[in-house]
Amino acid sequence: MKIAIVPGDGIGREVMPAALAVLDAFGLDIEKIPLEIGYGKWKRTGSAITDEDMSIIKECDCVLFGAITTPPDPNYKSVLMRLRKELDLYANIRPFVPLANVKLPCNKKVFDFVIVRENTEGMYSGIEELHEDVAYTTRVITRKGSQRIAERACILAKGGKKHITIVHKANVLKSDSFFRDVCTGVAKRNGISFNEMLVDAMAYDLILRPEKYDVIVTTNLFGDILSDVAAALAGGLGLCPSANVGDRHALFEPIHGSAPDIAGKGIANPIASILSVRMMLQWMGREKDAQVLGRAVDSVIAKGIVTPDLGGSYSTMDVSEALSKIMSEYLDQVH
Ligand code: NAI
Ligand code: MG
Repeated sequence: MKIAIVPGDGIGREVMPAALAVLDAFGLDIEKIPLEIGYGKWKRTGSAITDEDMSIIKECDCVLFGAITTPPDPNYKSVLMRLRKELDLYANIRPFVPLANVKLPCNKKVFDFVIVRENTEGMYSGIEELHEDVAYTTRVITRKGSQRIAERACILAKGGKKHITIVHKANVLKSDSFFRDVCTGVAKRNGISFNEMLVDAMAYDLILRPEKYDVIVTTNLFGDILSDVAAALAGGLGLCPSANVGDRHALFEPIHGSAPDIAGKGIANPIASILSVRMMLQWMGREKDAQVLGRAVDSVIAKGIVTPDLGGSYSTMDVSEALSKIMSEYLDQVH
């Protein structure tokens, strides 16, 4: 197994070593290919990602990604958008389940849903025009894109989660009534129970009644926003992982960004990245290892070995080291 390792910028460079230490504890036969990609590289070389980086990544089985800074510079093209498009990582899968012993901001303790966000088109089509007095972004919704994301949602629904909620703004956007109709057709064809929600009502209801939801399928921008809402519900951005998957490639990353406000202090919560490794293990078919990792995360939090965002005073690497140690003990018991 060959994995491209992209720490990126800011806290990406801090949480990646923490995640790799945990991955190493499994002793798997993995070749790691480190790649410098991101804003730091852009400042140094004028290019955030090169064609050579892309071809190295395409030869790898998957990518483990930290986070990158996207500056508000019109000449800077988002690296993640390029990766998602060129690797055709059309499904962004973001599970939200409260972790044991994490204090939650709302009074909701029991929920377990996954946001399935279309990842290659919609508002992030990249088709944009910037003029003196007006700017345009073209929102692209295709039948193919909508169909395949709905199929992904149905696979998740069949694999344990039961119900699909199709989220859109079809009362205003024609592109979204198209998205809704395609998704509805796919759900019916698959015999999956479904309902639909307008995105604004969804944001509201997600906070009040998160326990109602199983699989939420939506377009790119709405999925981006709803997943930060969901991250707040689940205890914070430092806890939430994601998988970007296509038919051939996959990329695993925390949903948070490069967090310039805390970068360089060594206090970023590595759990989102570590749980992204867990999603990678599941994608590899290593369900038992993924379970061990999940138990170790619960245990480290129960012991109070957590970073300041969770009220602790431990560093990123303290958490990673404690977790790796607990995991090695579990692995000794398993083997
Ligand atoms: P952000 O996710 O980096 O940070 C938002 C807030 O959450 C900050 O207060 C930060 O300190 C906190 N936070 C995030 N991750 C944390 C962690 N692991 N532990 C503790 N606290 C954590 O979002 P923001 O500030 O809007 O964006 C910063 C930069 O990151 C921007 O350049 C943005 O474009 C980029 N970004 C990159 C993403 C990616 O690489 N996938 C995703 C989101 C933003
Ligand atoms: Mg986001």
